[in-house]
Amino acid sequence: MQIISTKIELTRQVAACVRQGKTIGFVPTMGALHEGHASLIRRACSENEVCFVSVFVNPTQFNNAEDLLKYPRDLEKDAELLASLGVHFVFAPTPEEMYSKEEMEQPFAFDFNGLDEVMEGKMRPGHFNGVVQVVSRLFDLVQPTRAYFGEKDFQQLAIIHHMVERSSMAGRFGELQVVDCPIVREASGLAMSSRNERLTEEEKQTAVAISQTLMASQEWAKSATVQAVQQRVVDSINAVEGLEVEYYEIVDKDTLQPTEKWANAVGCVTVYCGGVRLIDNIRY
Ligand code: PAF
Repeated sequence: MQIISTKIELTRQVAACVRQGKTIGFVPTMGALHEGHASLIRRACSENEVCFVSVFVNPTQFNNAEDLLKYPRDLEKDAELLASLGVHFVFAPTPEEMYSKEEMEQPFAFDFNGLDEVMEGKMRPGHFNGVVQVVSRLFDLVQPTRAYFGEKDFQQLAIIHHMVERSSMAGRFGELQVVDCPIVREASGLAMSSRNERLTEEEKQTAVAISQTLMASQEWAKSATVQAVQQRVVDSINAVEGLEVEYYEIVDKDTLQPTEKWANAVGCVTVYCGGVRLIDNIRY
């Protein structure tokens, strides 16, 4: 496995793979890797001839300086896991290598067709501009055949599909296929996340109520309206000491707009557990 820190070297390695006609699997990450990432990487390695992973805590997608500062980073530990998974190339640049000063300072403009106006986009203004900025740059550099993303970040995945559709129409990213991968959970049901590292053992126990409530709500949905279930989920999670719901939205899985019908519905939640912001979602 080779660790690359410059765009020039990355471009050289990608060009060699492209020349040899190899299929390229790509998993973009922000490091602090866990079993959720490992499941994407295993798939990328098995479905492609060569596998690239990026490890980059992208500053332009953080709208909270403290969150950026506290984001867990351990490249050495991540590299060990990546090597054991059979990854060929790891791209781990500095922010200065990725962006010019202007790019760091000016929000990246993109037409989201409304997909950024709800949920994470509403709560974290500019977050998805940064995500699209970094992912489109990484796609340009890595030229993947397939790119793998987890469904835990449901809105992010919808936005990446939208971005790729728009870009493909403009002849960018070639035949790139975005592959959706299911949420990986701890045995307790807690959705795996790099942010879980910041939870104490006690908080981890408390946070289990989030996924338990979402799973229970699939049963409630059989005999109640969307509005009633939405309220019940919020009340149930808030009733647990140590948890506070920021939002729970039941939306159409394609438009991400609030829906009153169960067909095509997905429930997306953000909950504060202590100082840690956790997200999860469930299909109905
Ligand atoms: O999901 C993430 O970890 C990040 O948003 C991504 C896609 C790696 C972009 O920085």
